[in-house]
Amino acid sequence: MKKTLFANGTIVHADGVKSQDILIRGEQIISIGKNLESNADTQIIDCKNKLIFPGIIDPHTHMGIPIKGGFSADDFETGTRSALNGGVTTIIDFTILDNDQTLQESMYERHRLAEVSHSDYALHCNITRFSPSLLREIPKLIAHGIISFKVFTTYKEAGMMLTYEQITEVAKVIAEHNGILMVHAEDDAEITSALVPLMAENHVEPFYHGLSRPDSAEELAVKRLVAIAKETGCKIYIVHLNSEKGLNAAKKQQSIFIETCPHYLLLDDSVYKRKDGRMFVASPPLRKPSDSEALWEGIINGDIHTLGTDHCPFCTADKKEGIPFQNIPNGMGGVETLFPVMLAQWIVRDLPLPRLVELMSVAPATIFGLHPRKGEIAVGSDADLMVVDPKNITSSWKGKLVSVTDWNAYTEFPAIFPEQVWLRGERINAKEFTRDQKSGKFIHCN
Ligand code: URP
Ligand code: ZN
Ligand code: ZN
Repeated sequence: MKKTLFANGTIVHADGVKSQDILIRGEQIISIGKNLESNADTQIIDCKNKLIFPGIIDPHTHMGIPIKGGFSADDFETGTRSALNGGVTTIIDFTILDNDQTLQESMYERHRLAEVSHSDYALHCNITRFSPSLLREIPKLIAHGIISFKVFTTYKEAGMMLTYEQITEVAKVIAEHNGILMVHAEDDAEITSALVPLMAENHVEPFYHGLSRPDSAEELAVKRLVAIAKETGCKIYIVHLNSEKGLNAAKKQQSIFIETCPHYLLLDDSVYKRKDGRMFVASPPLRKPSDSEALWEGIINGDIHTLGTDHCPFCTADKKEGIPFQNIPNGMGGVETLFPVMLAQWIVRDLPLPRLVELMSVAPATIFGLHPRKGEIAVGSDADLMVVDPKNITSSWKGKLVSVTDWNAYTEFPAIFPEQVWLRGERINAKEFTRDQKSGKFIHCN
């Protein structure tokens, strides 16, 4: 079987940065250490002056989901091509529960759509309707390698919301089977109270999107979820947490895991006043600079566990100029820029690189049951690697992205793209992928 030696590099592990070689055979890492020996037939990758990172896991993507009468711009093929170009070797996406479908039917349907994936993928299961028969399916999904179940405390108008009482019932079943509950945490009633007066005054510009979904909505929902975690013993993962109030309610609480996204760290609600303000409409909305600062603090001190993108991109034509904010398809892209932009921030802010690996590889792999196969550079793990020149900060974004969309939120930010991306022992050239070249596998969580 083919062997490859990554020689003379510096590996970024979650527990430190080490000068070590990596030997891989086939799809896996078989040895790590100093001055590893190679045979005549071993391919050698010289990594002198380069950092080697484990492949990134994006635990929150939405490939081709229906929103406000259209679909997010990436399907699994284009989205996972972008993912790999930016160093994301595994995405975790969500099933979509259509009317009358069972959870298992929704899972099979999502598998069918994900067959074209280039990166590896795992799935979370959306529960956007409440019924005892759906709850009875939870252990079946877990047996199929789907251990995380997502509910929404909002999107009532889209028919996706569960009440806190229903969420408690879901949490009990998930806890019994040792799964994990994920929640989009914004209190729907609180949003309605903010939205109604804005509508009455005909405030329809993108800036009002932020005001219509106040931070108090996140805080209220998080407090209810903390109580549900205590009552049921269920692990609860709060997706895209974005406010200081929400963070204060969630941090250091029993069984609560917190994800935030690059856009909440790097952007604030002033962008809604820009000419392209509509492009930043995502739910929850961008907040104040003080919220971003609180999130950075949580990123650095460990109160926040993971970084996900909530990748849900749209083209400029999809978010039509001038339409009322409530009708703008909500979501932003991010899977391709996740690692390049965050690594550049890490370097600019002089933060410890192991923490980045913890947030973007080890923690999502561990929380969602992909570890030790994914998330770490370790013997026996999949050879999902990136070779990175930390000095290679982009001066221009031109030609960097393979995304099918025509808009990127981060053009004003520096980025460091990986020079090489390897997925299960194969070097990836995302720029040359064709649609029928599916290199991704479904990865069971357990
Ligand atoms: O606006 C967003 N985030 N769209 C994707 C769906 C969701 O709520 O995560
Ligand atoms: Zn959400
Ligand atoms: Zn999402």
